[in-house]
Amino acid sequence: MSESSEIARLREFLTELIPSEDQFQRLYQNFCTQIRKGLGAKTNKDASTKCYLTYVQDFPNGNETGNYLALDLGGSNFRVLLVTLKGDHEADQVSKIYQLTERELLGTGPHLFDYIAKCLHEFVCELKLENENLPLGFTFSFPCVQTGLSKATLVRWTKGFNCSDTVGKDVGAMLKAAISRRVGLKIDMVAILNDTTGTQMSCAHRNPGCNIGLIVGTGCNACYTEKVENCERLDAKYKDKPKIIINVEWGAFGEKGGLDHLYTEYDRVVDKNSLNPGAQIYEKMVAGMYLGELVRLIMMRAVKENLVFSQCKLRKHITDILTKRPHCIESKVLSEVANDKGDDWPVVKNVFKQVFNLKDPDPKDCMKFKYICDVVVKRCGNMLGVTLGALVNKVGESFSIIGVDGSVYRCHPNLDGYMRETLDKFVEKDYRYDIMLSEDGSGRGAALVGAVVYRDYMDKTRLK
Ligand code: GLC
Repeated sequence: MSESSEIARLREFLTELIPSEDQFQRLYQNFCTQIRKGLGAKTNKDASTKCYLTYVQDFPNGNETGNYLALDLGGSNFRVLLVTLKGDHEADQVSKIYQLTERELLGTGPHLFDYIAKCLHEFVCELKLENENLPLGFTFSFPCVQTGLSKATLVRWTKGFNCSDTVGKDVGAMLKAAISRRVGLKIDMVAILNDTTGTQMSCAHRNPGCNIGLIVGTGCNACYTEKVENCERLDAKYKDKPKIIINVEWGAFGEKGGLDHLYTEYDRVVDKNSLNPGAQIYEKMVAGMYLGELVRLIMMRAVKENLVFSQCKLRKHITDILTKRPHCIESKVLSEVANDKGDDWPVVKNVFKQVFNLKDPDPKDCMKFKYICDVVVKRCGNMLGVTLGALVNKVGESFSIIGVDGSVYRCHPNLDGYMRETLDKFVEKDYRYDIMLSEDGSGRGAALVGAVVYRDYMDKTRLK
């Protein structure tokens, strides 16, 4: 069979992963419906995107100063930071990463929070700050119902976390309790925030036009600035300020069927094998935790149908690995192979060697593997562009900046371009947008929320 007809067969096999214009239109409409429902008081319970109120209503102006502690829990590891805001849009930080093991991810809540308090204690002692009583911002990147800036009830775990005795409880209270169990540790927790909010705030610190925050990392989610009059669930006492950040929690989009028209058998298996079947449907199509798995499942079927490795003598062994080893293709592989220029395929060859112990692959198989990875990332980027377009239109400003963070966005060379392709189609003609990479949204954002809370408090006391 000629090379071009083989590629044509593979392309045909992958068509269900290449959405049509119509399918993107439906995605746009369905997503807008869910946002409307999420914001409405009566409809919120039926919405997949819960549009959580963050109580962040003040925005940085770049002049913020002072030392803040920040905790960042929500990805594959946990960080503690000391952030120094220096005015003039500048900030410095010192941080330390602490590894999380299954004992923390899947153990009890008190164990997790005691571990966090221990790391925090070690960190402040190392910096000789243990007697300072610094304000702390806690970036806790999971769905929470907030009733104020420092009160957040955990709705569910996502991204491979599943600690017992935590869902339905106030995360702030659990952290405070763990801090008070540690003799000699004094910390003033002033705010709990999502990483999307942190990212938006950190970009707004540099450029006040940032009104959308996006994370494409282990998980995927976005937030945006909404007018208070559109937030039916917001108590009147918060309506003297004009705006509030809404944490969309769009990873859950699709739980009410909004993505059925794009769903493939691969998505179904990823969901079925996950810790949370039926939940976080959109996230499972676009986030780092799942992209490698999608490629594994596609490869599994492609090998079975003789579309890849058809002439390879290790075919049976490769099939075995693909079938029996979930997660054998890591998501970072998708970014790495996108950088392989294709003359002699050094990156793809290395992946094949690591994963399948295959030494001399056929260059055609290398090209096909890169193509499969690209189809998965393009679907992800294009879908993100559609839902981001909906947020840009919802914000309704003549110019919106989308602040972005997350390993997948940072590492993949083509994701930004794929997002822009559909953003350009869906952003209405009166509006323009740009995308800005955040500088450590989770850390700096937490400090900034702390700083604007403090500024607001000082303003109010001065007025009295
Ligand atoms: C998951 C979490 C969400 C977070 C996102 C990115 O979707 O539920 O809160 O923002 O991951 O980390």
